[in-house]
Order: sequence, then structure tokens, then C-alpha cells
Amino acid sequence: MAEKTTMIVEKDFRIAKIDDRLYGSFIEHLGRAVYTGIYQPGHPAADEDGFRKDVLELVKELNVPIIRYPGGNYVSNFFWEDSVGPKEERKKRLDLAWRTLEPNEVGIQEFQKWAKKADSSVMMPVNLGTRGVSDALNLLEYCNLDTDTYYANLRRKHGDEKPYGIKTWCLGNEMDGPWQTGHKEAKEYGRLAAETAKAMKLMDSSLEFVVCGSSYEGMPTFGTWEEQVLDECFDYVDYVSLHQYWGNEKNDTADFFAVSDDLENFIHTVISICDFVQAKKRSKKKIHLSFDEWNVWYHTRTQDDQDMANMPWRSHPHLLEDIYTYEDAIVDGLALIKFIQNSDRVKIACLAQLVNVIAPIMTEEDGPAWRQTIFYPFYHASKYGRGYALQPVIHTGTHETSGHGAVTDVDAVAVYNEEKDQVAVFAVNRNTEETVDFEIALRGFEGYQVQTYEALEGSDMKAVNSAAGETVKPIQRGDYQMEGARLTTTLKPASWNVIVLGK
Ligand code: AHR
Repeated sequence: MAEKTTMIVEKDFRIAKIDDRLYGSFIEHLGRAVYTGIYQPGHPAADEDGFRKDVLELVKELNVPIIRYPGGNYVSNFFWEDSVGPKEERKKRLDLAWRTLEPNEVGIQEFQKWAKKADSSVMMPVNLGTRGVSDALNLLEYCNLDTDTYYANLRRKHGDEKPYGIKTWCLGNEMDGPWQTGHKEAKEYGRLAAETAKAMKLMDSSLEFVVCGSSYEGMPTFGTWEEQVLDECFDYVDYVSLHQYWGNEKNDTADFFAVSDDLENFIHTVISICDFVQAKKRSKKKIHLSFDEWNVWYHTRTQDDQDMANMPWRSHPHLLEDIYTYEDAIVDGLALIKFIQNSDRVKIACLAQLVNVIAPIMTEEDGPAWRQTIFYPFYHASKYGRGYALQPVIHTGTHETSGHGAVTDVDAVAVYNEEKDQVAVFAVNRNTEETVDFEIALRGFEGYQVQTYEALEGSDMKAVNSAAGETVKPIQRGDYQMEGARLTTTLKPASWNVIVLGK
């Protein structure tokens, strides 16, 4: 019998106001994310611009405030000029990152339009792989300036009178990775990042910049990379990026659920490095974290590597089309809890990615768009996780795992939305064997009643959804007790739970 879990939620114990961009996502020119994903002229659901309305509806359901575009690894050899202007004049290009043919039918202009339709904004990486300061400046002028100058006028000539006003820019992508086109050493990259951000700020001082941290925690240069890069560019940047993908290669669900402990360590280590460089610089400036790629990703890797090697230069091939399981959804829920718990420093997080490519939303080329299992934790967190993250006090039992030793059964966090006067509790029972009794003591929330109580519960860890139907979707829970400001319920083994209370 698992130990009972208790959680104290106190209205005034606040971690931080959550930046809405914690619920960001990512669209890369990769596989079918763009072509036959968000864009498919001729599809029955296509609008006048060729964008799939069925996809837009699902993106809007997720309510994603910021979307990173156009890469990813793709950006490191991206020639943005080829992606703007009259479509018939656009150049087809070889995308070296994914060994794909890029038709450039969708580019910066179209994506701006799409993001608007999706009620979102764009976070844009510049190419610091094969290009540098001057091209970043030209792109910025094209996108953001209202001046009577060449690139601003070119945008107008292309039909976009008003500047796009892109505020958040990424200084390249995963520049520590040897796989990256134009990969760099830490000092070399740190200098380039500093000079690029400095020059771009001369053009628009209101911009903010994300500098590349490590591609994942397991990189041999992790730690020293962050320190050396920040040493060079500290004064010019606002965020350091973190990327992490998880997989259950060992087919050990309990140990897979423990990756959120690794995530916690990863976040805290990067915060420590940022603060160490801040201390060395005798600076008052805090560097925040942009976790701009995160998800489960392992189902298709081997097949994709073979396909890219054996069948290069296809247009919009099927790549990274991971079909997510029930247990993958639980891992994504655990990651979201960690981001909320650390929202004083993690200001941006982008679920990678959004459509067809390691994505919560999939499309059939000749059929509908549909929700993967991982759609739901993100949907819940984005819907109910806006406001103040509250510091939870949790007492819970532990269970043994093969790779992480003893880990806690329950991880949870609460968010207070002042405008709606609602408090939401997100809780995962990581114990795959046992139901846990769960008691929440609410302080400062007297008189609040449960408005919504939804959960993902399941015994088949490998259950998946498909275009034919959703095996994995939230159920409504009504079996709880409320005595004054004390709620008691049970958390099923391996479950994601969302309890929303209000007056
Ligand atoms: O999201 C897929 C890829 O993962 C991105 O292009 C890259 O940045 C990361 O390695």
C-alpha cells in the first residue's frame, strides 16, 4: 500500500507569475510540419491562404502564445531571402539538416500570417551556422523596421506594409552540436552571439535574445559550454536555451517517469551556471531560461536516420512522426509540472514540436487532423496553468526504480489565476503499481469548490490515439470529498490529474 500524499497549497506562497510563454511551441521546416501539416492548399479544410483550418482549430485549443520558427537545425543553413516575395520566383533549396528538398512555398511572410490566425506570435532564430551578423541585421530590418530603407521597403513591396514586431530572437540553434551546420566552439560562438545581439539591439533596443545553451544535458561540453558562452555575451542576452528529449528505450515505465528528476537537476544546474557568471561579472542582471525544445522523442529515430541516409532530397517526407503512447503523455505532464515549479527562472518553454513532427497534433494528408496522447497534459496546463505558481509543500512516499533509485510517488504543483479567481492543482502519480490517497489542504481558498476535475488514467502504457479515434483522453472525476478547505481523493497508478477550484 503506497503512503498517503498530502499537499499544502497556500495562496500567498508564490513562486512567480508564470510567463504565458511557458506554453509555447515550435514549428520547423522538417518533415510534414509545414507542408501537409499547417499548409496544404487543395485540402478540403484549407482556407484561402492554403492553411488547414482543422489544424488551426486544434492549435487554438492548445492556446499557444509563442511559436519558435523556422528551426531547429534547419535554421543553420536557412537563407531567409529565398522564403519571401513572389512565390513563383522563390528558389528551391537543399535542407542539409534533414536532407530534404525545401520548396520555400511557405516562408517568413506566410508564417507570420499563419501565426496571427493561430492567435500566436513568433520567436525567431537567426542563422549563425552558415551566416552571421549582417544577415541577421537584414532579416531584422525586413521583419521589424518601419524605415524608408532597402529591406523594410522590400517587405512593403512584398505586400506587408506593417512590420511584424518580432520581440524574441534566438541566436542560432544548438551551436554546440557537432551535427549542426556551421557548428562552433564555445568561445567562438559566444563572441558571434554577443556581436549579433549587440548589432541587432542597435537597430531595435527593445529586442530580447536567447543564447544557445547545450543541446541536451548529456553533451560532453554541458556546463563549460554555458559558462564560456555566457562569459562572452552576458551583457547582450536575456535567456539561455535548454533542450531535452526523453525516451523509454529500456521499456521501463517507472524509470521513464523518473526523468522529471533529471529535468529538475538540469534546470537547477543551468540556473547555477547563470548565477555563477553573474557573480563573476559583479552584475545585477539575472539570466533566465528558455526551455525552447522539450518532449518525448525516440519512437522513430532509427527509421528516420535510415530514411534520410537512403532517400535524401524528398519534399516533405514522413520524418519524426512519433506516435505517442499513454506513458509519453504522463512524462509530458511531469515536465510541465517542473516548468511551473521553476517558473521564477524558466520564462519560455516550447513543446517540440506542434504539428506532425514529434507533435501533439497530427494530420492525414487525405484526411483529418487528430490529437495525440500528449495533446492533453499540454492542453490542461495551458488552459488552467496561467497566473501565479504556488509553492507546494508535499509529503509523499517513494518507490524504487531501476535507474534512478528511490523516487517520490507524487509530483504536483498549484497555480492561482487571480483574474478568474481559480486555483488549479496538477498532480502525477508516478507509482505505476499503486493508487495513492491524496489530500490537499487549501489555505486562503476558503469557500472554493471543485469546478473541473479531469484525469488521464490507464492501465495500457502503450495505448495510442489515431485518426480513427482517441483511446487516450481525459475522463471526468467526481469521486472526491471536500470538507471545508480540505480535498481528499485518490490518484490512480501512472495518472495525470487536474483539479480546478473556484467560487
Ligand atoms: O526538434 C527536432 C530537432 O531537435 C531540432 O531541429 C534540433 O534543434 C534538435 O536537435
